[in-house]
Amino acid sequence: MAAYEYETHDYDVVVVGAGGAGLRATLGMAEQGLRTACVTKVFPTRSHTVAAQGGIAASLSNMGPDHWQWHMFDTVKGSDWLGDTDAMEYLAREAPKAVYELEHYGVPFSRTEEGKIYQRPFGGHTTEFGDGPPVQRTCAAADRTGHAILHTLYGQSLKQKAEFYVEYFAIDLIMSEDGVCQGVVCWKLDDGTFHVFNAKTVVLATGGYGRAFFSATSAHTCTGDGGGMVARAGLALQDMEFVQFHPTGIYGAGCLITEGARGEGGYLTNSEGERFMERYAPTYKDLAPRDYVSRSMTLEIREGRGVGERKDHIFLNLNHLPPEALAERLPGISESAKVFAGVDVTKEPIPVLPTVHYNMGGIPTNYWGEVINPSAKDPNAVVPGLMAVGEAGCASVHGANRLGSNSLIDLVVFGRAAAIRAGKLLDPESANPVLNQASVDKAFDRFDGLRNAKGGIATAELRLEMQHTMQSDAAVFRESKTLSEGVEKMTAIAAKVDDLSVTDRSLIWNSDLMETLELTNLMPNALATIVGAEARKESRGAHAHEDFPNRDDKEWRKHSIARVDGNKVDLSYRAVITDPLSTEDEGGISLKRIAPKARTF
Ligand code: FUM
Repeated sequence: MAAYEYETHDYDVVVVGAGGAGLRATLGMAEQGLRTACVTKVFPTRSHTVAAQGGIAASLSNMGPDHWQWHMFDTVKGSDWLGDTDAMEYLAREAPKAVYELEHYGVPFSRTEEGKIYQRPFGGHTTEFGDGPPVQRTCAAADRTGHAILHTLYGQSLKQKAEFYVEYFAIDLIMSEDGVCQGVVCWKLDDGTFHVFNAKTVVLATGGYGRAFFSATSAHTCTGDGGGMVARAGLALQDMEFVQFHPTGIYGAGCLITEGARGEGGYLTNSEGERFMERYAPTYKDLAPRDYVSRSMTLEIREGRGVGERKDHIFLNLNHLPPEALAERLPGISESAKVFAGVDVTKEPIPVLPTVHYNMGGIPTNYWGEVINPSAKDPNAVVPGLMAVGEAGCASVHGANRLGSNSLIDLVVFGRAAAIRAGKLLDPESANPVLNQASVDKAFDRFDGLRNAKGGIATAELRLEMQHTMQSDAAVFRESKTLSEGVEKMTAIAAKVDDLSVTDRSLIWNSDLMETLELTNLMPNALATIVGAEARKESRGAHAHEDFPNRDDKEWRKHSIARVDGNKVDLSYRAVITDPLSTEDEGGISLKRIAPKARTF
């Protein structure tokens, strides 16, 4: 057994991760007087939410008529009927409240002439249950909305006396013998000390795992740490095969150019200068949902109408827009285009390509953020003491495809919901759990094994093998042959985790070891993704299967559940929740409205 000394900290709640969801949960917990710690591997305002640009969806009706039911309908349709209906109703209903709370906390939203929160159009957001024109539903702070939200929530959390443990890396969850989560074991990166957090509830807000792919808009820190810890605890991951490609990553660099650019009037063209989206989505054109636009761009490139020397990308045109509008509404992407593509957006188009952006799948939860561990006996069984929110979780509101700007609202609605739930469940006067020492020891043993790893492959080399395989075999379009080859390759790659070589054995700022721990988190996420994709014999949302081009609701309207053990994945399925929270008589949406139908735009 590895002998590491550690300090123990007792809290009611420990939130792991300080992005939008983690901070909103932290703030909500602390406001209720719960002793709350937020443990984060990067400084809170450097969390990946800071990169969120275009905005946050809520039916405020500031720019024209809107309704939460229209937002719910768009989310159901956007998800290609794989989202859980109760969670989607909760999201759309609570969204306006959650945004006004942000406003009152101090988020500096852009304003209309009358001083209301400015809202822009985003893909897949419509009026009249998809029969009307696009709606302006996405509330924006220029094109730096995530930045504005993150800074505000961090300040408010400090005001409420939440305690922050910054640059602490979570190694593993502490689980009791009978499956209760009791806390988390952490490594403090800047001084090499160890910390055991004992908590009545742990909230995983660790973000997505975009870095399992070679080219992603995600920060290098997006390594699926929550999913990795959950998999090692023997718990489930859900709907991992659904990976969103954002249509407009900068060609080559991968940085995000917000969908807000098309919301403000930008459009895509091919090598013939054609606005090709008019052919694929005659009604909503460039404002069709992301899976649609990414596939259309890929088809244009495949058919020889890509731009550039290699005809392998597409142009995003903004140069017809007034320079003052670009400066006011899109200052951030104007700068990114200059820095990363050498383009002056007032004069030239931006070269763009669909780029991995978001994981619809994650740790399964109910709409209160409580982690569930589905079994045949109880598909909705809750794991006591464990919650997951934000991109790490899967509530599931995005199903097979997320609508742009439904991510930021997911973060704040479900971060808030987790706090509301914890406020009801937790008694600040009760004692903290007696920790399962065997679970703590196991975490240190794993850490020590990796710290002293003397195998044959370096972390960076194995990571690259994984990233290239995922990029080519779990792409925008998928087919049986490459998917099964991908599963074979990824199974072999995941086995090599046991043969890793770490050269730096120190404990202070050991980035070799930290990246190794991150790789052990990325790997189960990546493996579950490709195995789930190979198994799903239909096309739905972001999962476009060339050998099974149609959606098959009879066979496949179900969530995939993956349990990963080393390089093995055990797949099972769980029914989609089709009942909303409220009936039509209670003011809810009519079931007929949200019944599955063909998804056209
Ligand atoms: O395009 C964007 O601004 C990204 C927003 C989102 O992913 O929701």
